Amino acid sequence: MTEPYTTRDCDVLVVGAGGTGLRAAIAAAEAGCSTLVVSKSLLGKAHTVMAEGGIAAAMGNVDSPDSWEVHFADTMLGGQLINNWRMVDLYSREVIDRVYELERWGGLFDRTDDGRVMQRAFGAHSYRRLCHVGDRTGLELIRTCQDRMVHTAGADVYMECTLTRLLTGPGGVVGAMGYDRNTGEFVVIRAKAVVLASGGWGRMYRYTSNSWEGTGDGAAMAYQAGAELVDMEFVQFHPTGMIWPPGARGILVTEGVRGEGGILRNALGERFMERYDPVKLDLSSRDVVARSIYREVQAGRGTPHGGAFLDIASQRSPAEIRKKLPSMCEQFEALAGVDITREPMEVGPTIHYTMGGIRVDPETGASSVPGLFAAGESAGGLHGANRLGGNSLGDILVFGRRAGEAAAELARSRGGLSEVSAAEVSDEQEALLRPLAGQAGENPYELHRALQEAMQDDVGIGRSDESLRRALGAIGELRDQAQRLRVDGGRVLNPGWHACQDIRFMLTVSEAIVRSALERRESRGSQWRFEFPEKDDRLARVNLVVRDKGGAMTVEERPVELMPDDVVARLNRSRFFDPANLPSHYAGKVQPRAVEAH
Ligand code: FUM
Repeated sequence: MTEPYTTRDCDVLVVGAGGTGLRAAIAAAEAGCSTLVVSKSLLGKAHTVMAEGGIAAAMGNVDSPDSWEVHFADTMLGGQLINNWRMVDLYSREVIDRVYELERWGGLFDRTDDGRVMQRAFGAHSYRRLCHVGDRTGLELIRTCQDRMVHTAGADVYMECTLTRLLTGPGGVVGAMGYDRNTGEFVVIRAKAVVLASGGWGRMYRYTSNSWEGTGDGAAMAYQAGAELVDMEFVQFHPTGMIWPPGARGILVTEGVRGEGGILRNALGERFMERYDPVKLDLSSRDVVARSIYREVQAGRGTPHGGAFLDIASQRSPAEIRKKLPSMCEQFEALAGVDITREPMEVGPTIHYTMGGIRVDPETGASSVPGLFAAGESAGGLHGANRLGGNSLGDILVFGRRAGEAAAELARSRGGLSEVSAAEVSDEQEALLRPLAGQAGENPYELHRALQEAMQDDVGIGRSDESLRRALGAIGELRDQAQRLRVDGGRVLNPGWHACQDIRFMLTVSEAIVRSALERRESRGSQWRFEFPEKDDRLARVNLVVRDKGGAMTVEERPVELMPDDVVARLNRSRFFDPANLPSHYAGKVQPRAVEAH
């Protein structure tokens, strides 16, 4: 039997109110669609703010040789050439306009002496191209898009509502359902198109820069509705999170510190990146820097709390540091009692971003389920095996807009709203209510802790067949236990009950990560397999796609869409291009060429 629920109707439902959700909602509402943005937390509070150092866009304001072609090449090389090249192409061309658009909407940026948008260096970008405002760029993006969205006719927001299931009909997705986090009331939202903009998933790891919302709701719901997930094995460890004191562990230390000249040193005072990447040094790609810190610690050269020192104090004056890195100054002063204008920071890798996600059409963000779109961190494809810093804020703007526009177009082409299936609604209500019934059962917080242990210890920076199989076993057991979750109290303001839903999502996403990591028997980007330390030429042609087949999670190989010859030829525009690293299918298609002096 169906329990009572409230209903809301809209043309386009946007799930998530981070930068992607806001940009998608602006696009859909501007296209004339009634658009409802549903946020699990409060408007303005999203992981977007953790992209502190800037938006990567090749404007060439600081380094004039920069161009979208170089940005394309850097992004493909950073992703180890298994990115969806058409997404990278659209991204690197369009992000420049999206930044200027943000500026027109009131977004503030630091400025060059002649008044142009200032750009800083970031890891594995050939030129200084990160448009920024100090170390608060993500926050500025959110504030600007939020202001624009609330002033766009047709856009509305529903805060503190958790959606737990996409509702489907014969023609695809017809809406979503969940509950109001304050009242516990069930909510059904009918929509002609749905955009998932719910971000990534870091909370199944012990140390992460993600806040509590990062539980993979969108990917898990999409998977349940029949969508394909891609590249799930690639989880990004940002090299620099705080590691001390324990309560601050995982909080992001922006790459902007290194962009402004900060240097990594080990406990012996050595600039150890000279050993691992003598060309890019501290501004190597994130996968390389994170692994290098890990190796230093393993070799006994780690700092007292098991990380590396990050030193900006010896490189910049206190006034410059306070101007360019105000949040870092406050964060270290308040949480660790460290004055970064005088002392080094102690840092170590923290889970920050997920390259994998819902498999989408590059132009529109359409998933494999009709009516369902995805963009931003919840979608996969743009970043391949490793994302370059600064490419997520741009991703948000470029593909949030595209998905919002495409969803609006579909919504306008659909007649009316479709009826939702009573069976689907009551099924989901039953699943949601289960932890509130019965006498005894499993504690969701205990399950979460056990999942974090399994993922952190066995699916971390380095992985082996043995560790991955151990993690898969643990996830299977936790899944059984999750059938018997039990919490006290009712549906009103009950965080324990909310935690039960988060566990469901995190288990699905964790299983997809582990199963994909097992299948990728090589090291590429963020995936480091101890027993397969090199790249495998055959796997350079393959993305791994996860989907549900009759209730079982399957992983299958899907050929990478290969770049045409004229596009491959662009790779040599990157300052970091090395023909020796090309997989055999691209060999000989790129002529090495001299690159302009920096
Ligand atoms: O380090 C940072 O400021 C993070 C940026 C990003 O993830 O793009």
